[in-house]
Amino acid sequence: MRIEEANIVASLPDLGVELQRGASLAELTSLGIGGTTDLLRIKKHESISGLLGLLDSNGVPHRFLGGGSNLLVDDGELPWVVLQLAQPNPDIVLDGNVAHVDAAADLGRTVTYCAKHDLGGMDGLIGVPGTVGGALRMNAGAYGMQIGSYVREVKLYRAAACQIEILKGEQISFEYRHTSFAPDDMMLAVKLELPSKPYKEILQGIRICNEKRRSSQPLGQKSAGCIFKNPPGASAGRMIDELGLKGLSVGDARVSDRHANFFVNAGKASAKDMLALVAGIRERVHRAFHVELEHEVVIWNA
Ligand code: EPU
Repeated sequence: MRIEEANIVASLPDLGVELQRGASLAELTSLGIGGTTDLLRIKKHESISGLLGLLDSNGVPHRFLGGGSNLLVDDGELPWVVLQLAQPNPDIVLDGNVAHVDAAADLGRTVTYCAKHDLGGMDGLIGVPGTVGGALRMNAGAYGMQIGSYVREVKLYRAAACQIEILKGEQISFEYRHTSFAPDDMMLAVKLELPSKPYKEILQGIRICNEKRRSSQPLGQKSAGCIFKNPPGASAGRMIDELGLKGLSVGDARVSDRHANFFVNAGKASAKDMLALVAGIRERVHRAFHVELEHEVVIWNA
């Protein structure tokens, strides 16, 4: 979608919003799949309300993009514009055991930065791609830890109330790959309270997790991490593997040979290919195990 309204375009500089015409979502997502639309990069949290008011009053549909690492976007010209927070500098400020982190900060860099200042707890999250905001929204986790455990406070834009709000950690429910945030809440910043731990010890933990990840996940390939959530007490990857479906392809969308819950874009996969593969595998798991796998990847259908 292209923003045609001159009044919107004219207001953007004052709002501190940068317009990128015809941005390719394939270039903004780790799967490398997705069509084109106008992209609005927001440099000031305070302008979100004004920007959304402007878009809504002109009937311009919009979606919020985080780091694009858990997202499958449709092909072609997309029927909504995309909003994304620009990364401020600095994006992490430490105050004792509390890290004030902007939602646009890279998660891996945040873990490393805190570790270098002897703040641990999030070692397992080191290889999880994406932004801190995206990790928060889905309560990203790995190797027995999840980001929600360390959240003291979240600053977000609550679209339903048209305002910025601060939520205390105890007001938010963090479950396995799920949170109580509303779908249109936009994460802006978070205060993480982290346990003190010497950098050397954290580094050891990070190395172990990295090693495990390298040996079991297709890190060099384009993917969105695990496609399905694990059903209670089971592993989606193991089930798909047991059915002998590693390597199954639709066009260039392919079940990874290394980890069966990772579906990779092995070349020029389209969203259509990837969606057909996801639906096909889900169906086969259902037939064999009577389990309805739930998507972990977020799907943006046009
Ligand atoms: N397994 C297989 N074949 C496979 C994949 C896994 O037999 O193709 C077996 C493994 O050998 C292991 C068991 O299944 O015995 C579990 O596998 P793994 O340790 O790789 O964990 P997972 O349950 O597949 C989860 C998370 C990952 C996270 C790892 C490590 C989900 C859906 N996946 O994977 O998170 O990195 O544990 O903590 O919760 C993600 O969310 O995107 C993600 C990659």
